[in-house]
Amino acid sequence: MTVIAPRRLEPRDLEACAALFAQVFSAEPWSEPWGVDGALARLAHFHESPGFMGMLTLNDLGEAMGFVLGNLEPYLECHLFYLREMCVASHRQGQGIGSALYRALEQELATRDVRAVYLATGREIPAAEFYQGLGFRCSESMAFYAKGLKG
Ligand SMILES: CC(C)(COP(=O)(O)OP(=O)(O)OC[C@H]1O[C@@H](n2cnc3c(N)ncnc32)[C@H](O)[C@@H]1OP(=O)(O)O)[C@@H](O)C(=O)NCCC(=O)NCCS
Repeated sequence: MTVIAPRRLEPRDLEACAALFAQVFSAEPWSEPWGVDGALARLAHFHESPGFMGMLTLNDLGEAMGFVLGNLEPYLECHLFYLREMCVASHRQGQGIGSALYRALEQELATRDVRAVYLATGREIPAAEFYQGLGFRCSESMAFYAKGLKG
């Protein structure tokens, strides 16, 4: 089964992306208890937020194989892009789909005044190597802080 070159992610794609997201992040290494409704709420939130941009890869049956999405943010005289979610169908990982999606996103960002793309992810997960291979570096000067509020 072939995959089709990435295209812009449209509102009509959100449900398929949510199903894919729930499948991928319920599996290892994340093993989070995502259902489609919860995934759709999260993706729709980013979609409805200012500066949304996403790219999607389908196979030749029209099934979602992977996506990347996030939001452009104003920063001084330019923009940053906060990459919020990215995933590739478990059975199609390691075949270049994620790299192609990210390259397509950067091409879209090149038409805007974007100074940097940033993201938060686990330090020890395989995706860290994927992002490093694309040129991302773990910041030495910035830290990601979080405080849990429930038991
Ligand atoms: C991370 C993810 C988006 C990468 O997409 P992908 O299509 O599998 O990646 P690619 O096939 O384009 O791989 C590109 C490079 O990253 C490396 N890479 C990808 N997955 C990797 C893994 N699990 N472990 C180590 N390296 C990996 C590949 O070795 C490849 O390098 P190469 O070109 O030198 O061979 C995908 O594997 C995924 O959805 N993972 C689960 C969800 C996830 O972790 N998302 C990111 C959370 S922020």
